[in-house]
Amino acid sequence: MKKKHSVFITRVVPGAIDLLERYCDIEVNTEDRVLSKEELIERVKGKNAVLCLLTDSIDDDVFEAAGPQCKIFANYAVGYNNIDVVSATKRKIIITNTPGVLNDATADLAWALLFSVARRIVEADRFTRQGRFKGWAPELFLGLDITGRTLGIIGAGRIGTNFGKKAAGFSMKILYYDVKRNIEFEKECCAQYVEFDELLRYSDFISIHIPLLPETRHLIGLREFSLMKKTAVLINTSRGPIVDEKSLVKALRDKMIWGAGLDVYENEPDIEQGLKELDNVVILPHIASATTDTRTKMGIMAAENILAFFRGEIPPNIVNPEVFSNKK
Ligand code: GLV
Ligand code: GLV
Repeated sequence: MKKKHSVFITRVVPGAIDLLERYCDIEVNTEDRVLSKEELIERVKGKNAVLCLLTDSIDDDVFEAAGPQCKIFANYAVGYNNIDVVSATKRKIIITNTPGVLNDATADLAWALLFSVARRIVEADRFTRQGRFKGWAPELFLGLDITGRTLGIIGAGRIGTNFGKKAAGFSMKILYYDVKRNIEFEKECCAQYVEFDELLRYSDFISIHIPLLPETRHLIGLREFSLMKKTAVLINTSRGPIVDEKSLVKALRDKMIWGAGLDVYENEPDIEQGLKELDNVVILPHIASATTDTRTKMGIMAAENILAFFRGEIPPNIVNPEVFSNKK
């Protein structure tokens, strides 16, 4: 039986399909790849809602192609820099994201990267597999201490503060920088608010937890690396373009810093030339939220935003509520 609303889902995602199918007509891209812009434009036509991914570039052409009956795009991610929200708002199209449910998974992965870099886990694993382990040696894979060191957190939002709380077991001193202070975080974790340059100068481990915005693009470049300790480790699980990747390769190659742990890249899925050849960087394929439970919760959350909208409610995770307040 034809249902009242139709939804296009740009790729198979756990959690969302079963739920949406109960209430809506759904169409899913079942191929395990990102749709081209032309395909996306073709397939959103005439739908009432779209569930999209961070790998889909959703711009005004896509909104135009979808048509005036399509009033919600639910992004299967907390970050939504892949969507032209300004255009959406002009067209009174609701954009939603999936905050909260991926805080632990993302913070956990930032810790996994921190440990991997500090203790050279990936390098040592490679060495052992290659049959090069000839017995215990006093200077084999010397790494960095973690306990008692200084953690610098850029961005004290949901994920950054979750990451910071997890430092308690390692008796770390926490410094943080954000555009605004987070007093609750300061109280709970004895976190100290510092200026950006101070954070770069005094932290042993620096982890980035901010959204990609015009103001945060290339926040970390050569100037910033030159301020960091020679033993500093940079972790990025947020968005690649926040770090100038060419400068990062130089900083790692010239040993301006000790190492880096990356889950995201400036031009995904491309990796900056030179990065893969370096031993002092651990590189992952954008998997911070990739646990079965978390990805399922994200799918349910994206679907619930769409369903709430169809019921006439304000979707719980709307990122552009101005859509409503601007109504004449
Ligand atoms: C993942 O990168 C997300 O933004 O959810
Ligand atoms: C992400 O949404 C964050 O607040 O860190």
